[in-house]
Amino acid sequence: MTSPTRLAILASGSGTNLENIAKAIDEGAVPAKIEIAISDNEEACALERARRRGIPTKVVRPADFPSRDAYDHEIASILQDAKIELVVLAGYMRLVGKELVEAFYGRMMNIHPALLPAFPGTHAVKDAFEYGVKVTGVTVHFVDEGEDTGPIILQEAVRVEEDDDEDSLYARIHQAEYRIYPEAIRLFCEGKTRLEGRKVRII
Ligand code: GRF
Repeated sequence: MTSPTRLAILASGSGTNLENIAKAIDEGAVPAKIEIAISDNEEACALERARRRGIPTKVVRPADFPSRDAYDHEIASILQDAKIELVVLAGYMRLVGKELVEAFYGRMMNIHPALLPAFPGTHAVKDAFEYGVKVTGVTVHFVDEGEDTGPIILQEAVRVEEDDDEDSLYARIHQAEYRIYPEAIRLFCEGKTRLEGRKVRII
């Protein structure tokens, strides 16, 4: 049997995706091990969720670094020292700079609460809801230097119902996230994703 893929999860907020991925791993659905959870926000609930599951945590505060590049350099060093094979961004509220993208290109995923390339950015659910779309959804993609522009691994559509408000829509989007993020990670860990230019083939 091959050894589990060494994951790092980067999260800034509540961490429900982190928790859901950890649960999928514990249940044996994803052949991976979360070696470290890193946050830029010492108050992130994600850190508490990780600690409760026995996952080592680390806070790296942007205020302690003179520039974004210096911050990203520190993150890259931590990930490399821990021999991380796949970096999972789960509500990580920082843009990832060139050095970090290049060090982990094709080995760093993000989840976004809309059907990219529609509604990139930090207010995707609100933007889609206010635009009046009838269908939105969730995207898991590899990270490149743009904001939510990297090659798409998996997507799931979510219908906007007549009686939805932004919160009820986001609740169903979260449920879709909990399905497709562990699935995308599983595919990667099993060697079933192949990055070919802008496209990700599932083999
Ligand atoms: C998710 O909606 C994800 O799509 C976005 O940030 C949110 C994180 O939620 N990138 P949580 O912290 O995992 O609950």
